[in-house]
Amino acid sequence: MKILVIHGPNLNLLGTREPEVYGSLTMADINDSLRLLAKELGVEVEFFQSNFEGELVEAVQKAASAYDGIVINPAAFTHTSVALRDAFSGVGIPFVEVHISNVHAREHFRRTSYLSDIAIGVIAGLGIESYLGGFKGLVGKLRE
Ligand code: DQA
Repeated sequence: MKILVIHGPNLNLLGTREPEVYGSLTMADINDSLRLLAKELGVEVEFFQSNFEGELVEAVQKAASAYDGIVINPAAFTHTSVALRDAFSGVGIPFVEVHISNVHAREHFRRTSYLSDIAIGVIAGLGIESYLGGFKGLVGKLRE
């Protein structure tokens, strides 16, 4: 089984970006922990980050033929991107949506997600544990 982890815009800044909201771990730290978890679970994992909506759309389209599922933190595109939603609907790859912060306890606009209702599951507010839990949950669901 092969899983793609996608980080959306500004997540390349993790570690220095609003640490009071997003903590001090970098994207590389998160990826390292996911690599360890993937090994424990006996699955393959690859990573992709982009600040560009079109690149994320293309990554989802291409993933459909190369991966069994996606863990995605769509970051700001969560709240804006019909294109990303249409990419997931269009290729039908199973995915889990994760967020480091609790998007429901922040500004009102962060409560809207264009992806949540077509995701297998959604985890928000648990920091790196959102990614780890989302990854484990996705693998579990795909193995059912
Ligand atoms: C985020 C929450 C989004 O609202 C925000 O735009 C991000 C990160 C999170 O992981 O908490 O960039 O997805």
